[in-house]
Amino acid sequence: MSEKANIGVVGLAVMGSNLARNLASRAGNRVAIYNRSADKTQLLTKEHPEANFLASETIDDFVANLTKPRTAIIMVQAGAGTDAVIEQLAERFEPGDIIVDGGNALYTDTMRREKEVSAKGIHFVGAGISGGEEGALKGPSIMPGGTKEAYKTLGPILESIAAVVAGEPCVTHIGSDGAGHFVKMIHNGIEYADMQLIAESYDLLRQSGGFSPKEIADIFTEWNKGELESYLIEITAEVLKQTDAKTGKPFVDIVVDAAGSKGTGVWTVQTSLNLGVPVSGIAEAVFARSLSSQTEQRQGKPELPAQNQTWNITDKELFVESVRKALYASKIIAYAQGFDAIRAGAKEFGWEINLGEVAKIWRGGCIIRAQFLNRITDAYRSKPNLLSLLFDDYFLKAIDDSVAAWREVVAMAALTGIPAPAFASSLSYYDGLRAERLPAALVQGQRDFFGAHTYKRVDQPGTFHTRWSQDRSEVQTD
Ligand code: 6PG
Repeated sequence: MSEKANIGVVGLAVMGSNLARNLASRAGNRVAIYNRSADKTQLLTKEHPEANFLASETIDDFVANLTKPRTAIIMVQAGAGTDAVIEQLAERFEPGDIIVDGGNALYTDTMRREKEVSAKGIHFVGAGISGGEEGALKGPSIMPGGTKEAYKTLGPILESIAAVVAGEPCVTHIGSDGAGHFVKMIHNGIEYADMQLIAESYDLLRQSGGFSPKEIADIFTEWNKGELESYLIEITAEVLKQTDAKTGKPFVDIVVDAAGSKGTGVWTVQTSLNLGVPVSGIAEAVFARSLSSQTEQRQGKPELPAQNQTWNITDKELFVESVRKALYASKIIAYAQGFDAIRAGAKEFGWEINLGEVAKIWRGGCIIRAQFLNRITDAYRSKPNLLSLLFDDYFLKAIDDSVAAWREVVAMAALTGIPAPAFASSLSYYDGLRAERLPAALVQGQRDFFGAHTYKRVDQPGTFHTRWSQDRSEVQTD
């Protein structure tokens, strides 16, 4: 084995350390490591002699420890720290070398950085890495952007550490410059929706169904054997099973009900708004976290009238099955919206993103890994230009099987006064897509009335305006 390293990792917090260990455990890799404070580098080297790391005290040592083309993965917290490390590396690297940002960077930052770094002939790859701490160590799902040329060197290294499903590594070259981080951002948006939908299911099962957290854990474990099988359902059951050691209460009851976030969900919604893509399920999940954290309003509320009704559940098994169906249908909507946003982003930024490949590399390693990603992969493989996931035969049938229960669950939540925003908005999105006529025609009329914003007619081409404040006659403006 060469004295030098074929790959380097900068930033040795948990994600960086685990990724470095993962890299080191794969045949053919020798890993150089560097951290701003040297004690972390020393500790990691000491704790993991088996990794045979090339520990670097300074950034100069680190760069000198790499074989050419030098390839370094930055694993520092997204933001100014990333820019600082990029600058240090770019000053020392040569044309043809590769800088990879493995953090959760905003794709527009990645596009800017790629422009700056590539001006020096150095490759810059923004790579989304999903799977949390364990994924980084054992096999994440990786979404690299950047040039095809950089991927030739980087691809095999990433393939060596990625999760593997059905013999295929969960990594693919997503597209140029910011495409990888864009897709990772949407992954996180879907993650928010998926988590919120599971949380709403729990809430309905507990409040309406009267099930205990432990019973709901069992229900989720059961669901995890079917079409809902996924990492998030699996870990939710684990969380619900947990008992607080101090109080003996269910863990879920001792945690403050204000959800945090680091921003990728908000980015997904902001970006999709700009692209004109209605990612309403994802947006509701982001809003639900915001509402939960509006502690002042929530604590300072007067007695807000409810006028809610009771809902008699006569068949508990049927009720559980209805919630399961509502969850499955809403989940399909979240994914359909997420894939729509990827398609729109690809169009806007000129990326050639293969949606089937994206679904394929999400089947393992990442937080949203789920059995039904196989179905999404199949759907886009057989019809790469599928307009919406909902138009695929498999998903059409899945919705057909669920829609009656879905309506019932949303109606029940509204009548009984239990918030289920992601369930409800997903159903509204679905009905909006189905509708033959939308009230948008009336909105166009309102816009034309107060702002002469014009409208199109259903029966002839052209653009029209009605002289509302005069004789209400119509003029053609275009
Ligand atoms: C992943 C996750 C990860 C993300 C966390 C925290 O794919 O491994 O998406 O990248 O940082 O899930 O996200 P929030 O703090 O915003 O919930």
